[in-house]
Amino acid sequence: MKNLLITIDGPAGAGKTTVSRMLADRLSYRYIDTGALYRGVAYEALSAGISPDDGNGLENLCRTLNMSFIRNDTGTRLLSGKADITDEIRTPEITMLASAVSARPVVRKYLLNIQRDMAKEKGTVFEGRDMGTVVFPDADMKFFLDASCKIRAARRHKESESDTGQTLEEVEKDMRQRDERDSTREIAPLNPAMDAIIIDSTDFSAQEVVEQMLSYIKVISRKEYTKCGL
Ligand code: DC
Repeated sequence: MKNLLITIDGPAGAGKTTVSRMLADRLSYRYIDTGALYRGVAYEALSAGISPDDGNGLENLCRTLNMSFIRNDTGTRLLSGKADITDEIRTPEITMLASAVSARPVVRKYLLNIQRDMAKEKGTVFEGRDMGTVVFPDADMKFFLDASCKIRAARRHKESESDTGQTLEEVEKDMRQRDERDSTREIAPLNPAMDAIIIDSTDFSAQEVVEQMLSYIKVISRKEYTKCGL
């Protein structure tokens, strides 16, 4: 299979992470969760006592950060310097803070370069909000995964209820607030790229969505695809 650069954008809870991982596995590609990078910046800002409104503070912080992904037996881990912060970035507090810091141009600029550097190795599925629109406008294949807010909240609640103790109503309220902020911010708002294939996952399983994606990928790289016998 030709080493494609595939982007999957969409709102929280649309199933991007599950689908991106499964798609990357099927293609033997790397998978990069760019939301984790925004969460990493939010985590470091919180630890350093820097408010998401403090542009200078965030700029200075970004200059000192060194975030990277590594793979080990437990999967992909996010490192900030040498510290493994994979688990710490999944709290409701960091979730809301990540949305706030992601609206700051200085943070987006810092992460833009890191994400483009990661794409030097081809054969990658990048998951995020602006992958197809801003970070990789020339991606080989762009998907925008959506679903109704109710189903997205229900999925997120099911995933996180034992960890966070949030009720379904709280998860849905946070999600609506986050959707609003992510899609109305001035810089790189959440929008499908003009050339993205939009898939609504409300009534489909992750497996079914992946099959749909593979059939689109098959069209753009039919020769290589057939060779691999996928
Ligand atoms: O996908 P996630 O929930 O882990 O993302 C956390 C936040 O980061 C989310 O509110 C939007 C933001 N984000 C972004 O602005 N651009 C990206 N490419 C990925 C995430």
